[in-house]
Amino acid sequence: MRDAATPEEIASYQEHGFVVLPSLLDATELARWRERLHSALERRRTRLPDPGGEYGEFFRSEHEYYDRVFTQRIDLRLDDPAVAELVCSPALGRIAAQLAGAGGVRIYLDQALVKEPYANPTGFHVDVPFWSFSSPDALTIWVALDDATAENGCLCYLPGTHRTRRYDNADIGPQLGALFGVYPEWRSIDPVFCPVPAGSAVAHNGLTAHGAGANMTRRRRFAMTVAYMPDGAAYNGKQDIMTTEEAARLRVGDPLDDPVRHPLVPAV
Ligand code: SIN
Ligand code: NI
Repeated sequence: MRDAATPEEIASYQEHGFVVLPSLLDATELARWRERLHSALERRRTRLPDPGGEYGEFFRSEHEYYDRVFTQRIDLRLDDPAVAELVCSPALGRIAAQLAGAGGVRIYLDQALVKEPYANPTGFHVDVPFWSFSSPDALTIWVALDDATAENGCLCYLPGTHRTRRYDNADIGPQLGALFGVYPEWRSIDPVFCPVPAGSAVAHNGLTAHGAGANMTRRRRFAMTVAYMPDGAAYNGKQDIMTTEEAARLRVGDPLDDPVRHPLVPAV
């Protein structure tokens, strides 16, 4: 695996709020990621390892639109050491820290996002307002484990929107453009599609608006993602994916630094 972003990639990420990372994994690594994640998905049938919190509760019932956006499996690393070895990769963490311009980053979550054949589009949204901390320096590295194309729902970004630095959001629901009701000034921005071959990745700032098209093909589009927060990010009172017990142990302003839940990924 590459263990560094180029200066051009860092500059482009900082300017536009996203960047394509070509050939992040070599062929052997791609085969390993695919094999381990496919078997992790065979074992995990729920969105969360412990569906006890608010988020788990929400998803215990059927959500007609969202359930058909993707098969979402969060924090696979917590119940699968073979996945933990991949997503806690120091090389990946180093790239994330370089892009964020942070001394160190912690994993906020990992998630497999599989757009099944004929899955719904992912409506435009920003990530950080869903999460349990607020920071303009959070980011996601989205690793394509299948070729991601315009036909099967590659990611699509509104460049420069990370600079707005507001934490308002829209749901990922059937109104694909609901976010433009919240940020009307973004209507004039042309979306940039980012098709990437399997083994390549895209990285986006947690405040960059993004979405993905429908999967109009008969094969699934498999992506594995890791979301990072800068070391020192603090609890903002949103439970998000935490269990109720975890949330009860935290006060607003406490650092999210539990070494199991949010490991610091050292630079190599
Ligand atoms: C997707 O994979 O369709 C969406 C990913 C994201 O929202 O980060
Ligand atoms: Ni997102």
